Amino acid sequence: MADIKEILSDMTLDEKIGQLCQYNTQEVVESTAGITGIDENLGLTKAQVDSIGSVLNFANAVEMREAQKKHLENDRNKIPMLFMMDVIHGYRTIYPVPLGLGASFDPELAYDCSRVAAKEASAGGVHVTFTPMVDYVRDARWGRVMETCGEDVLLNSRMGAAQVKAFQGDDLKNPENIATCVKHFAAYGGAEAGRDYSRVDISEQALREFYLPAYKACIDAGTTMVMPSFNTINGVPALANKFLMKKILKEEWGFSGVVISDYHAVDDFETHGYTDNRKENAKIVFENGCDIEMCSTVFFNNLKSLVLDGTFTEEDIDKAVLRVLDLKDKLGLFEDPYRGASDKIDADEFLTEENRAVVRRAAEECAVLLKNDGILPLSKDTKKIALIGPLADNKEIIGFWACMGKPEESVTVKEGIKKLLPNAEIEVAKGASYIWGENSTDGFEDAIKAATNADVVIMCVGEPQDYSGEGKSRAHLEMPGAQEKLIKKIREVNKNIVLLTFAGRPIVLSDVADDARAILHMWYPGTEGGTAAANLLFGDANPSGKVSMSFPKSTGQCPVYYNRTNTSHPKSIEDEDTYLPFHSNYIDCGNLALFPFGYGLSYSNFVYESLELSRNEMTKDDEVTVKITIHNDSDRAGKETVLLFMRDMFASCVRPIQQLIDFKKVYFEAGERKAVEFTIKEEMLRFWNNESQFVSEPGEFRISTGCADNLILTKSLVLK
Ligand code: GLC
Repeated sequence: MADIKEILSDMTLDEKIGQLCQYNTQEVVESTAGITGIDENLGLTKAQVDSIGSVLNFANAVEMREAQKKHLENDRNKIPMLFMMDVIHGYRTIYPVPLGLGASFDPELAYDCSRVAAKEASAGGVHVTFTPMVDYVRDARWGRVMETCGEDVLLNSRMGAAQVKAFQGDDLKNPENIATCVKHFAAYGGAEAGRDYSRVDISEQALREFYLPAYKACIDAGTTMVMPSFNTINGVPALANKFLMKKILKEEWGFSGVVISDYHAVDDFETHGYTDNRKENAKIVFENGCDIEMCSTVFFNNLKSLVLDGTFTEEDIDKAVLRVLDLKDKLGLFEDPYRGASDKIDADEFLTEENRAVVRRAAEECAVLLKNDGILPLSKDTKKIALIGPLADNKEIIGFWACMGKPEESVTVKEGIKKLLPNAEIEVAKGASYIWGENSTDGFEDAIKAATNADVVIMCVGEPQDYSGEGKSRAHLEMPGAQEKLIKKIREVNKNIVLLTFAGRPIVLSDVADDARAILHMWYPGTEGGTAAANLLFGDANPSGKVSMSFPKSTGQCPVYYNRTNTSHPKSIEDEDTYLPFHSNYIDCGNLALFPFGYGLSYSNFVYESLELSRNEMTKDDEVTVKITIHNDSDRAGKETVLLFMRDMFASCVRPIQQLIDFKKVYFEAGERKAVEFTIKEEMLRFWNNESQFVSEPGEFRISTGCADNLILTKSLVLK
C-alpha cells in the first residue's frame, strides 16, 4: 500500500485540484501512439494538464501505456492516472446489451459475462468501467433502456450487484479485476416523454421504492464510484440536489467512495437555467460531494479561488483528493501504473474461444421466445431456408456502445445457420431497409422469390443497433422502413415465417405478430449473435429468456409497465379488447403490453401445478415458505425462471397490482417435476409510506407466480 497521506503532503493546491479533473485521453496527453495532444479548447495550462488525475476513452493498451508514461514524466508528483471507459456489455468480446442480459434473469450469467469483460478491459488498459447502469425504466421510447436490466427494481438490483462483484473480484489489486462506477444517480430513466436528458418529476415514494434501490444494491456490493445523472429531479440538477447527493448518498447510505460527474455535467447548470455563475457551480457541486469533474473545466478554473476566499478549506479539497488517491492505491497503481495493460494492441486475452463461448451462452439465454405455434425448433433436415431482412446477413448485431467490440468480428445469422447446417440451401434477401424513412419496396421482389417454395422463411428484422443508447429516443417504436410491409408480402407466398427480431429496446410488433408462426427476440445479442440464433432456431439451445421490459402494443401506451396500480376506474384484463366508457382505458388501444414483464416461452413445457404456503398468516417475525411445484412435461430439458409476485391488497399508499418479490432460474431435466422454494419475510412486504418510512401494514397479501398480467396459483397470506 502507498502512503497516500505522505503523497498528499507534498502536493500543491493546484496539483490537488488536478486529481479532481478528468478529460478524454487524446485531449490531454501528447503521445506517439496517435494521441493528438493538448486540446486548445480546454484552455488549460501545461501545469494543469500535467496534474490531471484521470482520463477516459482511449483506443488500446499501447495508447494507455504511452499516455501513462508521458504523464508520469510530466507530473511532478509521479501520481499515475486512472484510465476509465464504458465497458457496458463487453470490452472486445461482446455479450447482449444489458436489457437483454436482464431477460436472462440470471445474475450468475451477468457475473460470467462481466468476468470476461473485466479481464479483457484490464488487458486493454482500463482501470475503471462506468458500469453498471441500473437506472429504473418504464418508457421504451428512452434510448438508454438498452443499458439497464429492465423495468423491475429487484431484477436491476441483483443484476447490477452481480456485475459489480464480477468486475471487481475479491481484490482490486488483482490486475484481472477493474473498479466499477454505478450510474446514473438518480432516476435518469424517468425522463419525461422518454426523451433523453429531459426533466424528471418524481415523488419521494417512487424514488425510494423504484428508482433508488438498485444504486444502493450496487453500493452494498462494493462499487467504488457513483456517477450522478444529467437530469433535473423536481427542478434541481442531480449534482446540485442535496437530497440525493448528501441526505441519501452520504448520510443514509454512507457512501465513502469517489463521486464523478457525468460528461460535462458540472458545466451544464447554465443550460439547465440553474446558475450562470461557474464559481457558484463549482461551490454547489463540490459542496454536494462530487469529487471528479468529467470533461469540463469548472473545477480547474474555480476551486482554488473558493479555497482562497475561505468558502472551502484546503482540508476539504484534501478529503476529495484522498478518495481519488485511495482508489488508485486499491488498484495498485502506485506499485504498477500499467497494471494489467497488455503491451500489445491485440491482447492475448481478447476474443478467446472461451470468451466467445460465454457470450454465445449469454446470447442464447437472453433471447425471449415471444410466440411459437410449434414450428420451432426447426428440423436440422430443413433443406431450403429463405433468410430475409436487413439483419439476415448483417455484422451490426453487437449493439450500441459495444466498447472495443468490432462488428466484423461478429457472427451473422446467415453465418451461424450456414455453419450449423452446411448442407442446407440458404437464400438471402435483404428485402427492405431498417432505417427510419427509407420505405422503398424495391427489394421485395428478390425477397418474395427467395421465400417462394422455401421450407421456412426466417425474417431478421428490427431496429438498427444505433437506434438505442444515449440521445437515441424514439417516438415510433414500430420497426423502421418497410419491414412490416415486407413481412406481410412474404406471408402471401409462404406462411412458414419465423421472425427473429433485433432491438436495444422493446419494439411494437402488434401489426406483424399474427403474420408469424414464431417470434424470437434477440435484443442485440453481441459477437456470437448469429451462432446463438442458429442454435436456438434449430434446437441446440432451448430459449429461456423472459421479458425484462414490457413490449407495448402501441407507442401511445408508453410508459407501459407491469407494476401499475389499479386506479379508481380499472378495466379488467378480460375486457382488454373492449373500450369501456368511464374506465381507465384507450378508445383506440388496449391497456396491456403485447408481451408483459416476465413472459417468455420455451421448447420445454413447464406445467405449474401448485403453489403452497407454509402458513396463511404471519407476524412480522415469521417467515413463510412458498413451494411452487412445476413439471417439465416434455422430452426436452430446459431452464425456467420462476417468478414470485405479491399484491398488498389495501395500504395507506395504494400498492401495485403485481410486484416481483423474488425469482429463481431453475434447470429441469426432461419430464422432471420439481418444487421451487422461496421464503417470504416481512421486509419484502414493505413500502414507503406518507410518513417517510419503509413499513409493512397488517392485512391481506396475494402471493402468485406466472408472469405479469397472467398471475396464477394465487394464495392469500395475512400479515397480522
Ligand atoms: C456519457 C454517459 C455516461 C458515460 C459517460 C462517459 O455522456 O451519460 O453514461 O459513462 O458519458 O462516457
